[in-house]
Amino acid sequence: MSRIVYVNGEYLPEEKAKISVFDRGFLFSDGVYEVISVLNGKLIDTRGHMLRLNRSLGELDMAAPCSAVEIESIVKKLVAENSVEQGLVYLQITRGAADRDFFYPENPSPTLVMFTQSKNLLDDPNAEQGIDVITVPDLRWQRRDIKSVGLLYPCMAKMEAKMAGAKDAWMLDADGYVTEGTSNNAWIITQEGTIVTRQLSNDILHGITRKAVMALAGENDFSVEQRPFTPAEAYEAAEAFVTSATTFVMPVVKIDAAAIGNGLPGEMTGKLREIYIDMALRTE
Ligand code: PDD
Repeated sequence: MSRIVYVNGEYLPEEKAKISVFDRGFLFSDGVYEVISVLNGKLIDTRGHMLRLNRSLGELDMAAPCSAVEIESIVKKLVAENSVEQGLVYLQITRGAADRDFFYPENPSPTLVMFTQSKNLLDDPNAEQGIDVITVPDLRWQRRDIKSVGLLYPCMAKMEAKMAGAKDAWMLDADGYVTEGTSNNAWIITQEGTIVTRQLSNDILHGITRKAVMALAGENDFSVEQRPFTPAEAYEAAEAFVTSATTFVMPVVKIDAAAIGNGLPGEMTGKLREIYIDMALRTE
């Protein structure tokens, strides 16, 4: 049975789902997206994702095709239609189809597309072993707080990581500080046990998992600092990890040529992963 995807009001087998060649998402990357994880058939932190979606739309002066409540019910229906127990929902809104013109169309008819991916997120072997990352310059645009579908540079950076035998890349701003991973937020834990991640600004995506982990770290009396850090500081860190909706808390065991700590996933990282997953599994 083929996967059912959602396109502009219709639930269709994926082979039948089509959008216009004039869609501005296709021509200009004029669109925004969200990725929401699914555990036990339930969506994790939908509210946070909907709030960020609205913010991304607002920053781009882009209309939504329907309300956040309606979007949420479509997401739920799609997860049920595809019997997703574990995995993710991808949803994308673009400014819709219009004859090619850099100016926004006057009466846009936004496109809403959604699909699901079934995936084992809990027993990810990368979480057991930890991942290696390399550092690369951050060559993206300067509104990284908007979850735009313009992801070519993150694809290039991930390919560079793959060529170097690593799983991902951490990107560096012009001053040499880590911004974030190609599709996740970057964190280190100092030798003194302080958890460090870059503060929110236009330089990084305001991760929904980042926010949840920050709250859980506080509740568990871990000390957290929000500030930039350099690769040099990260090489000397006791632990490192990344967060995202699809990886939760994922240990990083090597950055460039430097093994982090003893080169194995860190203890505090493991604890944070555990408490994050516990919290997610308690989602109603
Ligand atoms: N990426 N930073 C970037 C650049 C991201 O693309 C993502 C998410 C994050 C983490 O955000 P969150 O915790 O809300 O997932 C940080 C998604 C998973 C993706 O593009 O597939």
